[in-house]
Amino acid sequence: MAKQFLLSNLIAAITFCCVVLAFEPSPLQDFCVADPASPARVNGLACKDLKSVKADDFFFGGLHLAGNTTNAVGSKVTPVNVAQIPGLNTLGISLVRVDYAPWGINPPHTHPRATEILTVLEGTLQVGFVTSSPENRHITKVLKKGDAFVFPIGLVHYQHNVGYGNAVAIAALSSQNPGVIGMANAVFGSDPAIATDVLAKAFQVDESVAALMQSKF
Ligand SMILES: *[C@@H]1O[C@H](CO)[C@@H](O)[C@H](O)[C@H]1NC(C)=O
Repeated sequence: MAKQFLLSNLIAAITFCCVVLAFEPSPLQDFCVADPASPARVNGLACKDLKSVKADDFFFGGLHLAGNTTNAVGSKVTPVNVAQIPGLNTLGISLVRVDYAPWGINPPHTHPRATEILTVLEGTLQVGFVTSSPENRHITKVLKKGDAFVFPIGLVHYQHNVGYGNAVAIAALSSQNPGVIGMANAVFGSDPAIATDVLAKAFQVDESVAALMQSKF
């Protein structure tokens, strides 16, 4: 009985520790506008002097402007995170605008530090994410203007413009710095490259196919 009690306490302690550590902390002050020039090493960015904080530290203009989708995938992400708005530092939130050419895709990727909620402003998007192994369940839906959809933290997800016109989406992310890991870029476009024979075996294809994929990224 005592053992069981200890065990359940231990589990509770571990759960508590990881929930606290795995997400961006609640601020202990009103704000902490990032000072990218500071040599201080903290989890996030050091705060700049309160006296020099101004409205523009909390501002970004230009989200009405379409991104240039003339590229191989036919989409463009315009980020609005702590790199664009220093006032987002420590606040655990950010934004992106995504533009899609007709039939363009935002290729499969994950955000290591954020859940995402996306809303369609224009057009029709087929979106999806895949649950972790061993299920690898593909959860997908077609979204029209005004719809919103959630991509849970860490899961591989994508969007596909399934209309003849341009599409536009805005997404909010639960991190000041969500990060992005593009599936193809990470695996086939790493620097230095992952050995071609490793990729051939991993993807169960001929080495020439793996080399071809590497040549694209
Ligand atoms: C969009 O990007 C393409 C490819 O990089 C470039 O050729 C084109 O000039 C860009 N268009 C605008 C309006 O910037």
